[in-house]
Amino acid sequence: MSEIAYVNGEFLPLERATVHVEDRGFQFADGVYEVVRTYGGQPFATDEHLARLFRSLVALELKIPLAADQLKSIIQEGIRRAGFAEALVYLQITRGQARRHRGIPKDAEPTIVMTVREMSARLPKLREDGISVITMPEFRWARCDVKSIALLPSVLAYQAAKKAGVGDAVFIEENGQVNEATAGNVFIVTNGRLRTPPKSQRILAGVTRDKILEASRAAGVKTAEEPITKTELYTADEMFLTSTTAEITPVVAVDGKKIGPGKPGPISAKIYEEFAHLFVHDHVP
Ligand code: PDD
Repeated sequence: MSEIAYVNGEFLPLERATVHVEDRGFQFADGVYEVVRTYGGQPFATDEHLARLFRSLVALELKIPLAADQLKSIIQEGIRRAGFAEALVYLQITRGQARRHRGIPKDAEPTIVMTVREMSARLPKLREDGISVITMPEFRWARCDVKSIALLPSVLAYQAAKKAGVGDAVFIEENGQVNEATAGNVFIVTNGRLRTPPKSQRILAGVTRDKILEASRAAGVKTAEEPITKTELYTADEMFLTSTTAEITPVVAVDGKKIGPGKPGPISAKIYEEFAHLFVHDHVP
């Protein structure tokens, strides 16, 4: 078993993988990415991730010579070669190598990079304890539906959260609307109803978000995709974040204010159980 990379058609050990210094990804963050995980050794929701990847590529007017099926085969081959029981796959596509200039080069070949690493075991402790978060004014670009590799605002917001002694930060619009966390979608439960902000250019349309909505309905929990205000976060009965890597992360306090009794809530737990039942192949009830 070993961490491996794929760079433009070639699989190689991760530590030997390189791209050119004039790659547009390095120079301009001119690229997009996806993160796929496995469950029971099988990549999870690859079609959904690849559909989003192609939407991101279209937004950047970045054409690649591979179709979704070919990317899917590369992901599967990477997982097979790495050989981990559970793997985390980062697929990153940039506009490729070109002499530095902001103009989009006509003849650059896109750089297609993938890394496959071991996925650390799910974190039941995190699900039991939850995390605290802070809110902060939205300061990312206006196309957060594009999974751009330009992640500096998220890096800085996460650092601010760490400095504040909490687990994450949630971006809030000037009008008080909740967008999402630095790498996850936001959900709240109010009076037994699950709510998450609607898809828009202000948030990433999370693959896990959709699966959680599906699991919630299957569990008989009413769901609504509607705007949430910061005040509604403070007064929610339960709150959690969702992402490929963390699945559900309960939030027990926002800006120092307890959510409900200040511990992960029962409806969140019930939804997670249903999610695991529906989608997690190696789930042991
Ligand atoms: N991040 N919102 C943002 C800003 C994200 O970066 C992510 C995922 C999500 C959740 O999307 P999904 O459920 O499809 O993973 C929402 C990944 C995990 C990352 O950047 O590592």
